[in-house]
Amino acid sequence: MEPKKRIEELVELLNRYSEEYYIYDNPTVSDFEYDAIYRELENLEKLYPEFVLPNSPTQKVGDYLESSLEKVTFDKPMLSLGDIFNYDELRDFDNRIKAMGIKPTYVCELKIDGIASSCQYTKGQFVLGSTRGNGSVGENITDNLKTVKSLPRTLTKKIDVEIRGETYMKRSVFELINQERLNNNEDPFKNPRNACGGSLRQLDPKVTAKRQLDLFGYTLVDAYKYGVGSQIEALEFIKELGFSVNPNYQYCENIDEVINYLDKWENERKNLDYETDGVVIKVNDFALQEKIGYTVKSPKWAIAYKFPPMEVETKLLDIKFTVGRTGCITPNAVLEPIMIAGSLVSRATLNNEDFVVNKDIRIGDIVVVRKAGEIIPEVVRVVTEKREPHLEKFKMIETCPICNSKLVRNVNEADHYCLNNLCEGRIKAGLIYFASRPAMNIETLGERLVSDLYDLGYIHKITDIYKLKPLRHELEQIDGLGEKSVSVLLDNIELSKKNTLAQVITSLGIRFVGGKVSKILSKNFSSLTELAKASVDDLIMIKDIGINTAISINDYFKANKEMIEELISLGVNPIEVKVDNTNNLFSGKTIVLTGKLETLTRDEATQIIEDLGGNVSSSVSKKTSFVLLGSDAGSKYDKAKALGIKIISENEFLELVNKK
Ligand code: IVH
Repeated sequence: MEPKKRIEELVELLNRYSEEYYIYDNPTVSDFEYDAIYRELENLEKLYPEFVLPNSPTQKVGDYLESSLEKVTFDKPMLSLGDIFNYDELRDFDNRIKAMGIKPTYVCELKIDGIASSCQYTKGQFVLGSTRGNGSVGENITDNLKTVKSLPRTLTKKIDVEIRGETYMKRSVFELINQERLNNNEDPFKNPRNACGGSLRQLDPKVTAKRQLDLFGYTLVDAYKYGVGSQIEALEFIKELGFSVNPNYQYCENIDEVINYLDKWENERKNLDYETDGVVIKVNDFALQEKIGYTVKSPKWAIAYKFPPMEVETKLLDIKFTVGRTGCITPNAVLEPIMIAGSLVSRATLNNEDFVVNKDIRIGDIVVVRKAGEIIPEVVRVVTEKREPHLEKFKMIETCPICNSKLVRNVNEADHYCLNNLCEGRIKAGLIYFASRPAMNIETLGERLVSDLYDLGYIHKITDIYKLKPLRHELEQIDGLGEKSVSVLLDNIELSKKNTLAQVITSLGIRFVGGKVSKILSKNFSSLTELAKASVDDLIMIKDIGINTAISINDYFKANKEMIEELISLGVNPIEVKVDNTNNLFSGKTIVLTGKLETLTRDEATQIIEDLGGNVSSSVSKKTSFVLLGSDAGSKYDKAKALGIKIISENEFLELVNKK
């Protein structure tokens, strides 16, 4: 089919699927199938950028049907907030303000975990409601916001005004709705915030109405117009207008009072009927706020303190062992499913034998489980008071749960290993790792598919992945795959041949060789063939490569000589011409990044520094050449100042680099 036609077809298909998913909560294809079609579109668009359609899902920010919601442009952008995670950073924030000669007082408000919303009124009548969108342009959700009972349709004053706040779903409502969804065989929402976001972006307000959302107001835009001079007054004013304002805000004379507030709510937030993920701390006086000013993205007069991860008690039902690609055995907790920080948790890592023994974790125990952001949940401790008698002490397994070979634990190491190179568990884990995002990044070749293709005999070693093409028709017959997804899969495999040398080295899964070492190796060798030839002596000559790593690399290439040759002959053979870095701008320099950069991401800045021969380090020491300083910098900045290390701004950095 002509690419233009195919692109049109895919866009239509994907838009229909996401409408089914987001608007009608009734998906007709699996996420897998959707992702596969999405990738096919993305690949085609890369090849034929002239045919990219404006309504293509690849052109939209966010994961919802933006095109079906009208856009709203804000006169005053809806800014976001800088995050902090401890009291040191909080004191830094306070000190930065004091350093401007200002003596601030603060207002603390609970940070409601919902969807930021703007509500505009003309002569006291609600006329326009929108989401935050990208901060400058939001989506029109007026009709949906009208279904929110705590949002006044008519204000108590006939004024023109914009109030901003957070739309959220109560925990109790979330649980009810999820129960109902389960009864109807529908997928439950992951957490109240997702449920709220999905409900707000419905095309049919009747659906939104059923979701019983709520809203707390917290920002009065252009407060001076109403003679309001502080955040405390603003909250009172918003309440007087008829809005619901979260009652738990507090005026604080100084930063110690702020800390008391944080201490109190870290615990008490568990008892609320809505999710809060932190506290927003705002300078109270509006005149002072203006004096303190803004960065491009956020005000310097406010900050979001994020609570430490939530801890929850649940029962440890079982301990199951998994085998990693290096043969490392990990015990995993099988838990009675429980909600933590808004998501359902049923597994947690137990790391290794010592971890379980030191904490005396036993099957049947009530344990405390913690989840922080995206990090895998972990078992913190046993609630020994709740232990039933006669629970058996944990005993580490002695043989591999997959291949039964005897496990080995080396002296001074915490982990047990299966040393059988032919262990199916290890091979599968290695293949999964090879295709994964940090390695070859073969999209759509995820854990499930690798495992299925392994079990069906299609891929037993990494080279098999590159021999799938002639098997296209066979693959199309596999359950869950179809013509389209196979086509996308094969395209993605083909694309992976263009990966960098560093990516390919990482993906081999050589012991001690992760992303960072792979990068170093790729700077010193121009191809896999060259690296494979390197002796242990050659390798240890390289800065930052130690003896164990050198031996491990050498062993790997000796043991896998034929496989690597085959991989190369199949087209996975990145060749990189080496440039002499010794005369580069940053050669021999160690640079530390701190704070938030404005025009560059951290990854981009790191890439620039490394391309110009420099090293990026995470901590400041006497060896640091200079610190690249962003906004909201914390202790690294203080340390650099104390050590007299050169500090340069992002602009100075860009100037330096551009000159070069
Ligand atoms: S003030 C410029 N106050 O947190 C100040 N935000 O990370 C903008 N949020 O997008 C926001 N509760 O969605 C403020 N009491 C509160 C808040 C709050 C929740 C959210 C809001 C914002 C995000 C910033």
